[in-house]
Order: sequence, then structure tokens, then C-alpha cells
Amino acid sequence: MIKVLIVDDEMSIRETLCTFLENAGYHVDTAENAIKGRTLFDQNNYDIVVTDIIMPRMTGIELMEHIRKTNSLCRILIMTGEATVETAAKAVKMGASGYLNKPILKADFLAEIATNTEIVLAQKLKHLEETEKELYRGQLESMVLSRTESLNQSMASIIYLLADVVEHRDPYTSGHQRKVGNLAAAIALKLKHPKDFCNMVRAIGYIHDIGKIVVPTEILSKPGKISPIEFKLIQQHSQSGYDMLSKVVLPHNFAVAVSQHHERMDGSGYPNNLKGDEILMESHILIVADVVEAMMSHRPYRPALGIDLALEEITLNRTSKYHPQVVDACLDLFRDNHYTLDDSLGEIHIPI
Ligand SMILES: [Fe+2]
Repeated sequence: MIKVLIVDDEMSIRETLCTFLENAGYHVDTAENAIKGRTLFDQNNYDIVVTDIIMPRMTGIELMEHIRKTNSLCRILIMTGEATVETAAKAVKMGASGYLNKPILKADFLAEIATNTEIVLAQKLKHLEETEKELYRGQLESMVLSRTESLNQSMASIIYLLADVVEHRDPYTSGHQRKVGNLAAAIALKLKHPKDFCNMVRAIGYIHDIGKIVVPTEILSKPGKISPIEFKLIQQHSQSGYDMLSKVVLPHNFAVAVSQHHERMDGSGYPNNLKGDEILMESHILIVADVVEAMMSHRPYRPALGIDLALEEITLNRTSKYHPQVVDACLDLFRDNHYTLDDSLGEIHIPI
């Protein structure tokens, strides 16, 4: 029901207008002065206020100014005698919704109230629609967020599982992929890449040797020197990794970066002898992380070479084999930030 407040110091006007509106089905309150009108307005949420201008102690204009401080939608109709027509016109400029000339005729009054009622109802409907839209948008957003989150978790669990599968077949390199992934993410962060990129590089690192699944275990874990044929077989793991990952629903750069993790800046790497910019930035980072981790760790055919030799390798071949900025970031990490290899499972990001 539309709620109306009538404020006038003349009782006859108040009562007449009140009767007109109550008979027309409105809820009506009245106030004999603006101060009482202000109190009633603060207590009730009126849709329409009809107020006289000149009243003792507080004017209708002051009442309107009070209402407009907190409510821009309430319809405020100013009642005016001839002497105050100009003031009423000014009041409209200041925020009144309209004015009624005294003496007020019933038909004119009800027509004016009806017009304002339509505006109030339209405003209420618009507000309701906006609230509903907002609610729907919020629900939709949270549904998309939660679906994306659960899809991300599913994909992350598959990445963790794949990492595990490879390392179970090749226990001598246990933790290698996780250490490479974590180091690569730390290098990416050092290079000031966004967090999602760093976590994506970590994810690629966790599965970069996935192609080793096709290499016989006897060759992977063979102590001592391996033959040229065996080396060729091991080398195939980059291409095999690409072949596997390009068939699954992962971003294409996962497969590409895995295929490139043994390439070198000068084209001396494998499988495609790519050079410089032909190699993805995520691959450049993985290449350095892979070399450093491999040299620092024990292998079936040699003991661990240690951090100094690993850093010497990337320093000596900075620019020729490895991306110079990646090398610098990696050196900073170990020398300034005292980075230590970490085989824990960190946060990963798979763009979907
Ligand atoms: Fe590898």
C-alpha cells in the first residue's frame, strides 16, 4: 500500500485531504507542523509527502531538505497559496516532485497523487528488478566460480597424479619434477611474472618429464654410462610428452613447454633445435630450473655435482644456451635469497 504523509497547520485541509486519500485506498498519516512531520518521516518510510510551505518554527522547504538528505525517491508535493507560487517553483528546482495550488480541488489532488503513485510504483518495480538481477548475477557468478574452482581442483589432482606416476617409474629422480616445478615458479616470480603465470609454470614443471613413461625403466635407472642408442631413447621423452599432453584438455602451452624443456638458446638442444624466441618463456624458465636441479641431485650414473657447479654451468652458458634474464633470476635466487630445492606440492594454476 502506498503511504502518504500530509503536513499542514490547518486542520481542515489535513482532514479533507486525508479523507480523500483514505477513501481512495491510501494509508495516510497527518502532521500539524513540519517538526512532527519530520519525526513521522524518520519513523516511517513514506512514498509521498504532501506539505504546506509556510508553517510556524519549521517550513515545508526545510522539511523537504531534511527528507532529501536521506531519500531521493520519496515524492514530495508542495502545497502553495498564490503568494508562494514562486517559492514552490523554487522548491521544485530544489528537489520537490511538484506543487499543488490552494485551494486544492479533490479531482486535481487525486489526479496528482495518482500520477505520483504511478511513479512510485515504477520506481519500486525498477528497484525490485535491479535487486533480482543483482541477486541472479551474484548467484551466477558464485556458481561459475565454484565450478571453475572444482574444475581447477580436478585438473590439479590429475597433474599431481601424473607427476607421481612418472616418479614411481623412475625412483632415482624422485622429487625431480616437483623440485623443478617449484624452482621454475620461484624464478618466474623473481622475473615479476603474475602469480597465475608462476603457478602455471610450476604445474608444467610437475609434469615436464611425463614422456619418460615411454622410456624403459632399465634405461632410466641404469647405473653407469648409457649407450648412444639408449640416450636417443631417453631424448624421445620431450616429443612423447608433447604427444601425450597435446591430446588432453590442457592449455596448448603445457604440451609445447614440455616438448621444449631440452632446447637451448643457440639451437643445440632437442628435439627441434629451436633457438631464442622460438622457445616459450615458460620453457626458458623450465630449462634453467631443470639443469640446475639435475646437476644438484644424485643420478644413478653419477653423484650430485652440487650447487656451485650448477650455477657455474648456467653462468658460463648464459646467453649461449640459456636465457640470460632467467639465468640472472636463478642466480639471484640462490645467491641472494639462499633458495633451497623444495619437493613439496605447491599451488598450481591451469588456465581454463
Ligand atoms: Fe627432461
